[in-house]
Amino acid sequence: MTTTVPSTSSEPVYSDAVAARMEPIFDRVKTVIPSVEWPVFAPEVDAILRLKEERNAVILAHNYQTPEIFHCVADIVGDSLALAREAVETEADCIVMCGVHFMAETAKLLNPDKTVLIPDMNAGCSLADSITGADIRLLRETYPGVPVVTYVNTSADVKAESDICCTSGNAVAVVESLGTDRVLFLPDEYLANYVAGQTDVDIISWKGHCEVHERFTPTEIESYRAGVPGLVVIAHPECPPDVLDAADFVGSTAQMINHVKNERPPKVLLLTECSMSDNVAAELPEIEFVRPCNLCPHMKLITLPKIRHSLETMSQEILIDSTLIAPARRAVERMLEIR
Ligand code: 13P
Ligand code: SF4
Repeated sequence: MTTTVPSTSSEPVYSDAVAARMEPIFDRVKTVIPSVEWPVFAPEVDAILRLKEERNAVILAHNYQTPEIFHCVADIVGDSLALAREAVETEADCIVMCGVHFMAETAKLLNPDKTVLIPDMNAGCSLADSITGADIRLLRETYPGVPVVTYVNTSADVKAESDICCTSGNAVAVVESLGTDRVLFLPDEYLANYVAGQTDVDIISWKGHCEVHERFTPTEIESYRAGVPGLVVIAHPECPPDVLDAADFVGSTAQMINHVKNERPPKVLLLTECSMSDNVAAELPEIEFVRPCNLCPHMKLITLPKIRHSLETMSQEILIDSTLIAPARRAVERMLEIR
């Protein structure tokens, strides 16, 4: 028997009816969300599912979103590449991007006529903040004729100055698709370094870093390996080179997840944002995830109440300067043409 909590605002409340409707959804997350916390999430999930239908909206969620978003309200989940691809496919009128600002901008570039919402406009990214369109124009003067590959973790302003975008899941293929001896690869220095190790193309990099992945260290990995025999260490290529050297597998967030699903190592350390371990653990409870928790403060700005609020009010809408849309979109579309 559940108790109905009286509401003093228009916020949704937990009731027996909500509990019953949400029971199958709780089943998906019950190994990672304690049952005492579910009454807080359930009415929000219930309200969001209803609003999605009313607004003909689709929710795209990055692998770093928390389980109550990732498993309970999202229609499409994935890495940056999958979210960009799925944004092209959707027939919904409205896209809610549960991720960070550059992901919502990418969805808008690919769907200029749709409404794209981000539940918190302040959800930024240290990589996107590390470079501007003006920086790219200066680099082109310094390296005339060298094509510019930019990570999708950049603003529309930067994409508009680029030849082609890439994600961590396709970076090597994108670089090699250009058929040149050299490329400017911006702004993630560590991803650039990783790509340089996988190709003969000469890579010129920039000093941008992800504030989440740059904090991992080889010493940390060694101490986890010493304490957990048989531990398999899987790292994202935004980690520093000495961390990647110490890992057993390196890949984008989707490649990391697929590796765990295919190989089923009994004990895993995912060197990336910590919600991803919770999301995979909800599906694979038999695997032990060792969690050195590095949270992305930007990803964590997205919450269920903010998703509900943006859908209720159709606020926090992504708008892009009309002069940037065509060139920025071209750089993203060139990337999507590479399979
Ligand atoms: P991917 O999901 O494309 O691997 O990107 C990781 C990331 O840090 C996104 O912000
Ligand atoms: Fe940016 Fe790093 Fe956060 Fe991803 S995890 S959004 S790259 S700061």
